[in-house]
Amino acid sequence: MDDAELGLPRGGPGGPGRILLVIGGGIAAYKSLELIRRLKEQGVAVRCVMTGSAAQFVTPLSVAAVSVEKVYSELFSLTDEAEMGHIRLSREADLVVVAPATANLLAKMAHGIADDLASTVLLATDKPVLVAPAMNPMMWNHAATRRNVRMLAQDGIGFIGPNAGDMACGEVGSGRMAEPAEIVSAVLARLRPAARPLHGLRALVTSGPTREAIDPVRFIMNHSSGKQGHAIAEALARAGAEVTLVSGPVALADPAGVRVVKVESAEEMLAGALAALPADFAVMAAAVADWRPEAVPDHKIKKEPGGAPPAIRLVENPDILMTVSRQNDKRPRLVIGFAAETENLVEHGSAKLQRKGCDWILANDVSAGSGTFGGDRNRVTLIRAGAEPEAWPGGSKAEVAATLVRRIAREFGRG
Ligand code: CTP
Repeated sequence: MDDAELGLPRGGPGGPGRILLVIGGGIAAYKSLELIRRLKEQGVAVRCVMTGSAAQFVTPLSVAAVSVEKVYSELFSLTDEAEMGHIRLSREADLVVVAPATANLLAKMAHGIADDLASTVLLATDKPVLVAPAMNPMMWNHAATRRNVRMLAQDGIGFIGPNAGDMACGEVGSGRMAEPAEIVSAVLARLRPAARPLHGLRALVTSGPTREAIDPVRFIMNHSSGKQGHAIAEALARAGAEVTLVSGPVALADPAGVRVVKVESAEEMLAGALAALPADFAVMAAAVADWRPEAVPDHKIKKEPGGAPPAIRLVENPDILMTVSRQNDKRPRLVIGFAAETENLVEHGSAKLQRKGCDWILANDVSAGSGTFGGDRNRVTLIRAGAEPEAWPGGSKAEVAATLVRRIAREFGRG
């Protein structure tokens, strides 16, 4: 008995699964090749059905090459019917995705019209259907389309997008197909809900050091590598969260599936963090410089022969964690800070929790010899108001990130 007979997505419980992708005839059909490629990268098997007009925008040969499967488009093809009838085609998938879903396809789906292979499989399927509409904003806003969308939503059809923005037709408005990455995320959330517990939640993560200029060639910085913050951003994205990572200068690759905002100074990091709100939760893992030089000349400070070294006056940087924690309307429901300590971990961590107004503090030992700063391992203690501190087992920074993801999921009732 294979996985399909057991009613499981192919690849076992939580495995990648198979989708039937119906490609409609719109300019956004060109994005279907990227969509297929990204789905396959995630281990999802993709079989495609194209409408006649889709073939005007992207060739069946390209779709077959990228999906590495036969592409179906004829309802009355004797060879196709003999190999794989349209009923089997519509059922041999864990999920049916329509991208792009044109106004015409949505109208046919809403009214049960089956006059080509694409609309016939959509009527014949017993599997969940997710549609990614793409059309001119006037067509999307037309009363007929509004009515069809309402009917389809009532029938249990899932929608992703459309997004607002510039349209290929030159108009601006709602009607752009959701980006392939968004569609992949929605597909994975349906195929593997247990593996994507944070799907639908927005996260802000700060990471790395900040660099405070002394003059155009010199700066003040610290030893933070950004490894823990980046590992957290990546683990959150893998768990389905929509992550904005505001990162200081680091020598790390951008984590997959994360929107990365690169900054240098604490003031830039604060602006980047505030711009990423609203968010459902925030993890502030950056080692923000506490001070910055008060005045930064626009020229290099010159060494005077025999002169005294320059005195650099420092001023305090804004506290990003505290500012985010004290937002009125845009405060994330859960704000998590770190406390880098060299002694009295719990005592200092608890004081920071109070002072900064955040909900959780992850206190870590950064004393010399702990290897935390710049290293690959970490050991943290979770501190919350009114609860006993929880010392998590030490491990790689990726393991600490995974524990944090589980803990956040539990906090949002997804664990
Ligand atoms: N933090 C911040 N903005 C700052 C300073 C710190 O957002 N200007 C955040 C860090 O990202 C971390 C937490 O506050 O989540 C604690 O940082 P830490 O360096 O441990 O504490 P400090 O506030 O700098 O206090 P101290 O240096 O006295 O330990």
